[in-house]
Amino acid sequence: MIDDKTRLIGLIGEDTRKTSSPFIHNKALEIVAKNYAYLAFDVKDNLDKVINGLKYMNIKGLNITIPYKEEVIGYIDELDELSNMMKSVNTIKFDNGKIKGFNTDGLGFYMSLKDEDIDLKNKNILILGAGGAARGIAFALSFKENSNIDIVNRNYKKAQALVLDLRSNFKDKEFKFNAISNLNLKNSKYDIVINTTSLGMYPNENKTPILIDGFKSTCVFCDIVYKPHETLFLKEAKKKNHKIIYGINMLIYQALLAQEIWFDYKFEDINLVKEGILKDLKLN
Ligand code: ATR
Repeated sequence: MIDDKTRLIGLIGEDTRKTSSPFIHNKALEIVAKNYAYLAFDVKDNLDKVINGLKYMNIKGLNITIPYKEEVIGYIDELDELSNMMKSVNTIKFDNGKIKGFNTDGLGFYMSLKDEDIDLKNKNILILGAGGAARGIAFALSFKENSNIDIVNRNYKKAQALVLDLRSNFKDKEFKFNAISNLNLKNSKYDIVINTTSLGMYPNENKTPILIDGFKSTCVFCDIVYKPHETLFLKEAKKKNHKIIYGINMLIYQALLAQEIWFDYKFEDINLVKEGILKDLKLN
């Protein structure tokens, strides 16, 4: 219930009307009985006025989404290590007059694997796509674990640029790139395959980035697309008896990790909170 003690947190971006973030955050707040309300705002090229104004409104923090994840850095006093490497911020915290920046997107994905007890140490990971989401995931996985990451993309130059950036930030780790069309999956070495392309999402629901063929039976398939809940990519992997991880888990975990930053605490049982949100979230 909103009362005189309720404080505001929220999301700023463009075209945020259809986002599930307010539902996810408010449900989590309800589960742990925190007196905050989370709202989404479209700021229409007024990032400057919005951030400078919010500083004076006793707001705890915000999530930042497309297209402001890079631009917002210009307003931040302190970036944490990962967001500084990535040069992308999805969470800011107003802290004693300072603005601090973080990125929980890729860490949310990392949590969704940890949640399923998936071991990432020295594993071979294949990322399909080289956009913003691939970048977040590749940086977070490299930050957290010692795994080998290959990135393939329709436009191989974008995969190359991402790999060069990763190599310069993680000098002791191995990264390779290729065009998705050159991918040879015969007797594939991969332990985890992650779709970060928009194939599978409206209006491409009937498309999938690769055929699920030639993989080890233990290979895990993950999608970051969460609408539809079960993409064609995941359906095909499931048909071949592979373990699958739904995109919604990453979305929920990046939100919960942002709350941990704002409230400076750790959920006692983060999985339980995730399950509580999932139970009431409309998945389709
Ligand atoms: P996001 O922030 O969600 O990662 P993005 O930065 O626009 O979004 O990236 C979308 C990804 O989906 C890119 O890797 C893109 O490939 P290109 O870089 O070659 O464009 C990929 N993608 C989109 N449509 C695709 C299609 N029809 N076939 C293959 N890949 C596609």
